[in-house]
Amino acid sequence: MSTTTNSVPKHWGLPEEWELAALAAGRLAEYLPRLAYSSAGYEPDPKTEEPNPSYAPRVVAQDDATPGAQAASDAGAFVPALRQAALPYVGEYPLEKIRADFPILAEKIKDRQLVWLDNAATTQRPAQVIERIRHYYEHENSNVHRGAHTLAGRSTEAYEGARAKVATFIGAPAPENIVFVRGTTEALNLVANAYVRPLLRPGDEIIVTLLEHHSNIVPWQILAEETGALLRVATVDASGQILVSEYAKLFNRNTRFVSVTHVSNALGTVAPLEEMIGIAHAQGARICVDGAQSISHMPIDVSALDADFFAFSGHKLFGPTGIGVLYGKSDLLEAARPWQGGGNMISDVTFARTVYKKAPEKFEAGTGNIADAVGLGAAIDYVSAIGMDNVARYEQELLAYGISELGRIPGLRPVGSATRRAGVLSFVLDGHSPEEVGRYLNEAGIAVRAGHHCAQPILRHFGYEATVRPSIAFYNTPAEIEHLARTLLALTRLPYISSTY
Ligand code: ALA
Repeated sequence: MSTTTNSVPKHWGLPEEWELAALAAGRLAEYLPRLAYSSAGYEPDPKTEEPNPSYAPRVVAQDDATPGAQAASDAGAFVPALRQAALPYVGEYPLEKIRADFPILAEKIKDRQLVWLDNAATTQRPAQVIERIRHYYEHENSNVHRGAHTLAGRSTEAYEGARAKVATFIGAPAPENIVFVRGTTEALNLVANAYVRPLLRPGDEIIVTLLEHHSNIVPWQILAEETGALLRVATVDASGQILVSEYAKLFNRNTRFVSVTHVSNALGTVAPLEEMIGIAHAQGARICVDGAQSISHMPIDVSALDADFFAFSGHKLFGPTGIGVLYGKSDLLEAARPWQGGGNMISDVTFARTVYKKAPEKFEAGTGNIADAVGLGAAIDYVSAIGMDNVARYEQELLAYGISELGRIPGLRPVGSATRRAGVLSFVLDGHSPEEVGRYLNEAGIAVRAGHHCAQPILRHFGYEATVRPSIAFYNTPAEIEHLARTLLALTRLPYISSTY
């Protein structure tokens, strides 16, 4: 399959006013065709469809696919034929064919078709990822690096192949810049303890923002407590966007490090990373980016961004849980201390002294999560075939549509309204607690997260302890958004909500 080369918007902002007006006026038929970048339909690529004894992940045609195919037509059944006819494309792929790749989307919840809108918590896996992990255990399983036998060779090739795929996917200079970890949380703890800790003296300062997930707050707090350093917090405007001028004022000669989120998991705000990284570097500080919530929504190029570290989790990118990535610039990985001690990360051990391997092995003590790293490689193949620029473009349209649809619901108050947003539609509904709303939506088969989203500081800044948070991925449909909006509307019309909900 060839990927389309739609140009990447400079900013991941909302559509223009006239587009929102078209949406608000319900001119869906007029609007949706803009999403179809190709009307050519699915054309199997002979190169990838040829029988091949070695494993070759591919984006499958609907006829080949798992029961997920049913999910696509069931999801369409929420709405009249008009919407179904207008089911959009993501890049070259009709959405229904993409959905057919995800078996779990066929799941029924309380006899209703599952509508998975909890993608910020975790994404679903395509059959290609599930199959790749099965193939690994059936044909390649061995520990890596240490064996001289055939399976050790296969396993090492698959694991290092996955590392190379990650490097290419995020624009890293080389596979050696990619450390496999358990997830974003471990990556951030690694940076805090292996790189930043040795630099800190009492009175030094670390900058984070109000948008951070707890995993980009707590490791720094622990570090600050133990070293006498201070945490400084960049604030946001009324829309939930970072106030860059205030952020710039936080720097002084004591600033040692900066760690910021790319996309807020609670509000969806896309931080102005280019500016923030530029300011940190101009002030002589290194900066780590928490990419857990951006990785599945937009193309990432860590070299173009000039990020010093970048972290993300496999399960937010349609890959397995328990595997994640820390990207680091070579000199910084070299300067960092080992993270954990043990096998695999040493080149020589005596009781007098140990010589460590270079990165990335220096940070990968013990037997890693080999199979899931390989599964992450398959997830990257999958989204790369569709094209992250196409994913971003489609999701921006879907998000704008969601904003417009939810905006019609009486008593619904959006939480977060930054112009640059990705993935998330956080809100509260007058007269109903977020937990009640979440339970009511579940009765209609709709999965959303309701709670504090592990981001209490930013929610409290806006005066909330919890919100309802639908969060989208590229396999979500306009019909699902409509089902969400209709279900919420029904809830607002109930005289009261029963305690069983
Ligand atoms: N950090 C994940 C979320 O936002 C779990 O839901």
